[in-house]
Amino acid sequence: MQSPGDSALTTVVDEIFALFARFGSAGYGENVSLESHMLQSAALAEALGAPASVVAAALLHDIGYFLCPDSETSIAEGRDVAHEAVGAAWLSRAFGPEITAPIALHVDAKRYLCATEPGYHATLSEASRMSLILQGGVMDDAEVARFAANPAHAAALLLRRCDDRGKEFGTNVPPLGHYRSLLTGLLV
Ligand SMILES: [Fe+2]
Repeated sequence: MQSPGDSALTTVVDEIFALFARFGSAGYGENVSLESHMLQSAALAEALGAPASVVAAALLHDIGYFLCPDSETSIAEGRDVAHEAVGAAWLSRAFGPEITAPIALHVDAKRYLCATEPGYHATLSEASRMSLILQGGVMDDAEVARFAANPAHAAALLLRRCDDRGKEFGTNVPPLGHYRSLLTGLLV
């Protein structure tokens, strides 16, 4: 929990807001901006009654794309920028593993669900199916067992559901400012 006057951590929240302002309008590849996608994912997490940490993770799960501004070019050239690891590492300065671990695992959660849930792959958007190939494809049995043993796997799966559906709410969702106090309250 943040102590009063801990301006270094409060600055991280300001940096998050600045990243959204600067890079949020970038396309997510599915007729939705990254900012809209992340706001919709967070709104869905709230609507599902997810814990505050998962709402924050949903809001911030693709922040790694903001930190790799050439990611669209990289993906088009067949290179995975590991946005989940980049984002989780950046956020770990200020947030605990209840937020960073699901973010770090949200790509693996897709790979896991493709391996374990019949029909899941068919529900993925075209962009998500394309990125799956770059991200290592469907998990094998050993990877499935390792993922299932991770204490953050349930939160990662919940985040993944919100991510997959984070294009459904349209723009009628709370703005970024709605989450400032939630984020501040989760600072470590
Ligand atoms: Fe996403």
